[in-house]
This record gives sequence, C-alpha cells and structure tokens, in this order.
Amino acid sequence: MLVHVPDVLTGPQISRCREVMAYAKWIDGRATAGHQSARAKHNLQIPEGTPEAREMGELIVGALERSPLFISAALPHRIFPPLFNRYDESMTFGFHVDNAIRQITGTPLRLRTDLSATLFLSRPEEYDGGELVVEDTYGSHAVKLPAGHLILYPAASLHRVNPVTRGARLASFFWIQSMVRADADRTLLFELGTVLQQFEQAVPDHPAVIDLTGVYYNLFRRWTDT
Ligand code: NI
Repeated sequence: MLVHVPDVLTGPQISRCREVMAYAKWIDGRATAGHQSARAKHNLQIPEGTPEAREMGELIVGALERSPLFISAALPHRIFPPLFNRYDESMTFGFHVDNAIRQITGTPLRLRTDLSATLFLSRPEEYDGGELVVEDTYGSHAVKLPAGHLILYPAASLHRVNPVTRGARLASFFWIQSMVRADADRTLLFELGTVLQQFEQAVPDHPAVIDLTGVYYNLFRRWTDT
C-alpha cells in the first residue's frame, strides 16, 4: 500500500530545512547503499549523525509523531533517523530494493525496514524528472509531491528515482519498523481503522462502534510482532 501523508511539515519548517541543506556538507550517496543498490545510486547525501542531519531529523520525527494519518498507516515501532539526499541534474537511482535490516548508527539498535518513506523538500516546479517510481502488485506508480508531503511505501517493493533533468530535487528518506510486519495485515488495519473512524463520527452512540473497535484491537493483537 502506498500512503500519501500531506503537510507533514509547515512552511517555516520547510524553510528551515532548506536553509540547513544550503550550508550542509554533501557526500556521495553510495555511503549508505547496499551492494546491488550502490551500482544504481548516483546522488548526494548529508552524512549520517551530523548536527545538520540531526536537527532536521528531529523536526521530521516530531512532526510524524503528531500525524494521526502517519501513525495509523505505519503503526510505527521504530523510526530510522531521517537521512537527506539531493539529486542534481542527471543524477538518478535505478531500480533496487532497500536493505532488510538497518543498524542505527552509534547505537546497538537494529531496525527491520518494513516501510520506506520519502519526504519531499523541493517544490515540484523547482525540478523536472526526479519522480519516485514504486512497483507494486497494482503496477507502477510515479510519485512527485509538494514540499513537506510524505509518501509511505513497502520497503520490499522495487523502486527507483527517475533522472533529474533540470534543477535539484531535495528530500528526506528513512525507514520504519512497524508493529505489524506484513504489509497486507497493516493495510487491512488501516482500512478498518479509517472506516471505524467514519462510522464513529456518523453514529457516535451506536453500540456496534464498541464491537467494531474490539475487532480492530483483536486483529492488531493477532498481527503485531512487538
Ligand atoms: Ni530505496
């Protein structure tokens, strides 16, 4: 399931990230790539753990923790400290699947990458190309969102970033270990939770709301692995 989370960051938060990204030091993006993906990856990154990456990362994770849509879609157990990339003209990232396990640098913690996330930090009119293309069972999806918007997609899916043909594409990317490992189970819980919310708003005192809430929690309990 692909989920678009709009307006994760406010205008001033986007401006602050852009300011930081303008003076940050950039390195070859292959620093965090696996063996296969290193051959397909041609972009720039801000090194992990730098004060710049940390400041922006905390801002993003804080915003996500306040987003009901993100929480209900991802059911996050652990969020990888956000990384930041830049694709200048002719830069691209060919088809790959993200690494299954990520060590959180400087900690003994490891994270299973159930979900991948891209938070767009450039406005779409600032660059041409640079779409995130995700393949799933329903076909190929090209994603290019307004600055401050986020796309969540299964880390197990084949994906690429189209070559940038004008301007620069700035984004944050990171992974989430979900409390519910299987994408299909998480998708059902998200759909059930969304319907439940609508039902509750339409008929708040209906006794079936309690029963349906019970069904949601019991499925969650059955499918969680944390
Ligand atoms: Ni990737």
